[in-house]
Amino acid sequence: MKKALYILFFTVIATNGLAENTKSGDWRKTGSNQEKIDNMVKVLPGASNLMLQMGERYRNLYWAAKQGKWQFAEYQLEEMDDLVNTLMITRPKRATTAAEFLDDGFKKFPAAITNKDWKQFKTAFEHLRQSCMTCHGKNDHAFITLPASPRKGNSPTLD
Ligand code: HEC
Repeated sequence: MKKALYILFFTVIATNGLAENTKSGDWRKTGSNQEKIDNMVKVLPGASNLMLQMGERYRNLYWAAKQGKWQFAEYQLEEMDDLVNTLMITRPKRATTAAEFLDDGFKKFPAAITNKDWKQFKTAFEHLRQSCMTCHGKNDHAFITLPASPRKGNSPTLD
């Protein structure tokens, strides 16, 4: 009896799924251009998405420098810069505060990285941390704080 119920249950799910698919088709292949654009706009990554990556790169940046992997640190900075630029496109309402961040947040790193100087790096990192949190504050997310010394990186390059 139990088994029969399961079979009934899954058949209903499977047929419903099929009906749904046949009805709407695959928008990527058969949708109008408008439908394609609308769907693509809907799935553009927003701040919550991009910021998860930002948080990971923030940790990796710190640990790259701490381990003297300066090129890897520089690479993290480039990717972080890209993330903010992407955010400006995908979420126009964040563009003004993002631009303010880009003007200021990364500015102390070039010297620290060229000199491969941990002390200078720490100052640049603290400046970055404040700039990140300033943007969180301006965007009603002041509760999202960041550690001054992240406990670990997450990249295999830093294992
Ligand atoms: C343009 C403003 C802005 C800048 C610059 C910015 N953030 Fe964010 N961040 C946000 C917003 C807004 C959220 C909340 C996400 C949402 O509401 O969709 C967020 C969320 C986060 C989160 C939480 C992610 C989660 O969902 O768990 C982390 C971590 C984070 N930011 C790290 C950083 C770091 C690190 C920097 C600097 C290197 C930074 N952010 C710079 C606007 C910004």
